[in-house]
Amino acid sequence: MDRPLRMGIVTCSDTRSEAEDTAGAALRALAGERGWEVVAYTICPDEESCIAEALIEMADTVNADVVLTCGGTGFGPRDITPEVTERVAGRRAPGIADYIRAQSLAITPRAMLSRGTAGVRGATLIINLPGSEKAARESFGFVASQLEHAVDMMAGGGH
Ligand code: MTE
Repeated sequence: MDRPLRMGIVTCSDTRSEAEDTAGAALRALAGERGWEVVAYTICPDEESCIAEALIEMADTVNADVVLTCGGTGFGPRDITPEVTERVAGRRAPGIADYIRAQSLAITPRAMLSRGTAGVRGATLIINLPGSEKAARESFGFVASQLEHAVDMMAGGGH
């Protein structure tokens, strides 16, 4: 890439305020360390309308290259982030979620409890990360090195 990657972050949680969102803050800091621009950040309760609107706005209006969601991937009755992501980002990118889970399973078997997914909407890649700060940091570390290449490919670039 010949410009900084533009990243959006959507924390999905019924309970977290911005002051308590250490996972979102960690993702912002990790993006900054790579020289990426965090162009949008918001917290949504586990409600389809809020999460879908945030993802669509970050993709279609803000033109983020990558949107990371954080949380709402588990088995709780209100965990809906993967379903909303699949609805909004129709071109699925299962390899990304598979890789996060495979690497995470080497750290903890609890990684099997994340239903996170990934998909492409237009020229924006949306990736679900689990919600704890630890899990979000680890998962970011697994995918970060491939994101710029993904963005180049979405822009029509070859290898
Ligand atoms: N992945 C990594 N790398 N490290 C972790 O500690 N925790 C798991 C899992 N994925 C974890 C992880 C746990 S305990 C849960 S319940 C699921 O992610 C779902 O988390 P979420 O509901 O916050 O999205």
